[in-house]
Amino acid sequence: MKSLLKMTALLCFISALFSGSGLMPGLTTPAHADEWSDGDAVKGEKIFKKCAACHTVTEGGPNMIGPHLSGVLGRKAGTISDYQYSSAMRAKGAAGLVWGGQTLFDYLKSPRAYVPGTMMSFAGLAKDDDRRNLIAYLAQANKITGAVPAGEPAK
Ligand code: HEC
Repeated sequence: MKSLLKMTALLCFISALFSGSGLMPGLTTPAHADEWSDGDAVKGEKIFKKCAACHTVTEGGPNMIGPHLSGVLGRKAGTISDYQYSSAMRAKGAAGLVWGGQTLFDYLKSPRAYVPGTMMSFAGLAKDDDRRNLIAYLAQANKITGAVPAGEPAK
């Protein structure tokens, strides 16, 4: 029994080390293959309710206040043809921004910091886990079964 407790304590210690505290970046391997992967789609669906005021993710749309997010993973920013984007978002697409796990993880933390001048008036999701879970949900809703593309940052 005692050794079991010790084991549990050890495991807790290890997982604390691995949970991205960044104390020993050279010595630990990250808990997630990518910082944005391994989210929980069920939890992500709840988080998507915040987005659903302005976005749909059903196949083919429709657009609402924001552009539809069907096919968003792997899509160049600002490129839904029947949606009036801000010039800021179109410029990011022209500079090579492609939405994917990594770029959404970065954008959704603070949309206005990532795309200055965006008309997406959403403060962002501060918690890494919320963004991970949301990305898992977006992959599921878009029926992506294999690897989720990471996307490309703007150059
Ligand atoms: C208050 C409305 C609103 C909310 C809430 C909102 N968005 Fe947006 N979103 C927008 C608008 C408007 C745009 C267009 C931005 C632009 O053109 O600058 C946008 C753009 C985007 C884009 C870029 C799409 C493209 O085609 O380039 C993504 C991705 C996105 N939103 C994801 C999300 C996610 C995920 C959430 C929830 C965490 C969310 N948004 C919450 C209004 C919203």
